[in-house]
This record gives sequence, structure tokens and C-alpha cells, in this order.
Amino acid sequence: MAVTRKNKRELAAMRRAGAIVGASHRMLRTCVQPGITTRELDARVHMLITRLGGQPSFLGYGGPPPYPAATCISVNEELVHGIPSKRVLREGDIVSIDIGVQYDGYHADSAWSYAVGAISDEAAGLLQVTEETLYHALSVVRTGARLSDISWAIQSYAEARGYGVIRNYISHGIGQALHEDPQILNYGPAGRGLVLQPGMTFAIEPMIVCGAPTTTVLRDGWTVVTTDGRYAAHYEHTVAVTDGETEILTSQETSEEEL
Ligand code: MF3
Ligand code: CO
Repeated sequence: MAVTRKNKRELAAMRRAGAIVGASHRMLRTCVQPGITTRELDARVHMLITRLGGQPSFLGYGGPPPYPAATCISVNEELVHGIPSKRVLREGDIVSIDIGVQYDGYHADSAWSYAVGAISDEAAGLLQVTEETLYHALSVVRTGARLSDISWAIQSYAEARGYGVIRNYISHGIGQALHEDPQILNYGPAGRGLVLQPGMTFAIEPMIVCGAPTTTVLRDGWTVVTTDGRYAAHYEHTVAVTDGETEILTSQETSEEEL
């Protein structure tokens, strides 16, 4: 499928979808605490999405088995696609929460990693560098840049700081479908591929680990873990390329009260 450029109306729908995702993360900042279950977090996000007029993009996605929840919640060595459950978060855990929302036929998608209470220096370092890697990648997204400039920004930033970059999950185009062309590798040399143009929309999602960047899928068919059991982190924003500054559609600046 060709890479689409969204018009004003489409961007407005994605902006609203993104605002609902962002407000959900903003709410999670205070909900992610020792003692809460991942299922409770999922329920709170699902309710907020619905109340704000959106639909969860992940529920029923893919498979078999189809994805069974509104969010993906991945704890410690879990990288992505963790299924919300009765698991209780404990002080010292790190938890990545991935949220997709569909509004008026268009999707937005954003993941964030959270500390549960006080965490180790090792875990804190990983969260900080993975968030920085995302913003470094977003800093190269602009009209006229090449697609693989994003790939190199991610790989070079994280590896220079001693972390591993996951290669078998990638960043992607997004719009009427949760996953659209182009596929965007999170590694590789700059200066190649598509020339970015206004109206293109991407979900940029570095997945970074403390140890070896190899993964295994658990028997539930979804949960992806690091093979060596070391920490994994995941930060993702949905963005739109414009004539001027790149627009982050899933910003957490807007609270639910303002929507
Ligand atoms: N944000 C992830 C992605 O872009 C999560 C989607 S997996 C799903 O691939 F199955 F839960 F939808
Ligand atoms: Co995504």
C-alpha cells in the first residue's frame, strides 16, 4: 500500500484520537502505583477512551488469538504486548503501557514506560535513555528528511549510551489503519528511503533494552519478553509531518477535563 498524506479533516480526526491517548497517559501518571493490577489500569483507560468518544484500537486486533484488551501492559522484562491481568504491580517494577485509539475512522498510538514507586538506577537509566531516544528520533522528522534518518537517530542514540535496540519490532505509518506503510526500522544507516512530506503520519516507537536485543513470545501468543530476562522499555508518539514543526498528536499536555 502506498504511503498516504492526510488532509485537514483526517488530521483533525487523528488529533482528537491522539488527544484521547495523551489524556489516558496523563491519567496513568497518578494511577501507576504499587498494589494496582494491570487489569485495573486497563479498565480505567478503556473507560476514559469510551467516555471521550473513542474506541480502543487494540481490542480484537490481529491474532489468532485476537488481542483481548484495550491496552498492552508490559512489566520489567516484558517488552511489548503484555496482556492486562490480575498481576499486581510492585515497588521497583517498570511498566510500559501502550494505548491505541480510533476516532472518526482514524487511529493514534502511543506507549509510555512508568516507574512503580522507587526503582533501581539500572531501570531508571533505561527509562530515561529510551524517552530521550524517542525525542531524538522525533527531532529528525520533518519535510524533506529521509525515512531512514529516523532509523539511524534511534540506533545511534541508544547504542552510543550502551543500550540495545530491538530489531524485530518496528515503527510504522498510521491513519485509517493502526499499521500503515511505511514500515520504519528502528536501526540502520541514515539518508535512505522515502522523502518525508507534509500530511504523512507516523508512530515512532523505539524499544530499548539493557541486555541483548533478542526476544521470545510467551505461550499466550502475545507477550513479548527479552530472552535474557533483562529490563525492556518502550516509548511511542504518533506524529504528523507539516510545512513547519512536526506535530506530536499524542502529547500528554491536554487533560481529560479539557476534552
Ligand atoms: N503500539 C503497538 C503497535 O504499534 C501495539 C499494537 S499491538 C495490538 O504495534 F495488538 F495490541 F494492537
Ligand atoms: Co505502534
